[in-house]
Amino acid sequence: MLLDERNIIRNVPHHDAVFWMLQENSVILVNRDRKPTGVLQRVSDVRYEGPALRTARGWRAGLTYFIEKVELTYPLALTWQDGCTEFFKRNRIFLYHGMRNDDVIARGEVLPFAQPVFVEPEATLPLKWFVSMGAYSYVVGPMTGNFSVGRYTSIATNVKIMGEKHPMDRLTMHPITYHFKHAKLAHELGIPQEPFDAAGGPVTIGHDVWIGEGALIATGVTIGNGAVVAARSIVTKDVSPYTVVAGAPAKPVRMRFETDLIDLLLESKWWEFNIADVPPHWSDPRRAVRELLNREADGTVQRWRPNPIDLAPALFKASITG
Ligand SMILES: CC(C)(COP(=O)(O)OP(=O)(O)OC[C@H]1O[C@@H](n2cnc3c(N)ncnc32)[C@H](O)[C@@H]1OP(=O)(O)O)[C@@H](O)C(=O)NCCC(=O)NCCS
Repeated sequence: MLLDERNIIRNVPHHDAVFWMLQENSVILVNRDRKPTGVLQRVSDVRYEGPALRTARGWRAGLTYFIEKVELTYPLALTWQDGCTEFFKRNRIFLYHGMRNDDVIARGEVLPFAQPVFVEPEATLPLKWFVSMGAYSYVVGPMTGNFSVGRYTSIATNVKIMGEKHPMDRLTMHPITYHFKHAKLAHELGIPQEPFDAAGGPVTIGHDVWIGEGALIATGVTIGNGAVVAARSIVTKDVSPYTVVAGAPAKPVRMRFETDLIDLLLESKWWEFNIADVPPHWSDPRRAVRELLNREADGTVQRWRPNPIDLAPALFKASITG
């Protein structure tokens, strides 16, 4: 954590935090509106050799502060440090398709976290966007919006989540009646704003899903485990497990397997295992899953439960400790 000569904090994920306060063993980050934007808990010991602290009362020079636990308030923005890239390498989470971490995000880039994000090892995140993702899943290139992804899911290039909604039942659908980005203009014009949930719900993408290139997905939609979304489809409704959907709007075109095999796959939750433990009968899923369940029953293999990493606080710690 750094203080510049004007006592403004650098290297914290809250780019709008302008000063801090020490309260018992916590550091409270505060923004220009004097609202707390984050709490760093269990801070012990301080090393501070900068200018006299006007705002950080209680801090003493010549000691090192160790931050053991970071509690953040969302949304927040993280300023990328070299330690962040190293953190991804260490934890086998990837910033770009092809297991790449180097030269993807430059030091000093500011990246947003809309909410807490939990990621399992071997996942490849969308470019410069943090979402919860299960092991081995990947997104090729950029994909923004509010969505989460299970394990073993493949998402092609150019897939998009639909943008914000506008209130179609108001006199005007223009955001001037509700949006914070138009609040200044509304204030200047002396017109009131009324709340409107523009964001829509999160998109939930299951395990072993394949989403083809250029698909467009409506907010709030759930794409079931094992489903396929054909290239350029427009998904406006939930997709059932193991169903192939295509077109605009996307409609089921077929199922991947017969019903009894789908039931077996769904019941087995085979994605809870590491693929390295699955008997490799890739073209005979029934045999693969039956053998897997037998091995589980005789104790030869277990379901794989790596601790998902709570990314924002982990990156924040990595960015200050290197
Ligand atoms: C869906 C897909 C996998 C084909 O699956 P399939 O089960 O072999 O489907 P078929 O080709 O037999 O087509 C089934 C029906 O869906 C239609 N269909 C297939 N893909 C479609 C698409 N993208 N948009 C609209 N309709 C599509 C076919 O015309 C056919 O319609 P019909 O039954 O009226 O003749 C393939 O079309 C696709 O979209 N692949 C994605 C490729 C990609 O983006 N790769 C990126 C790398 S991750």
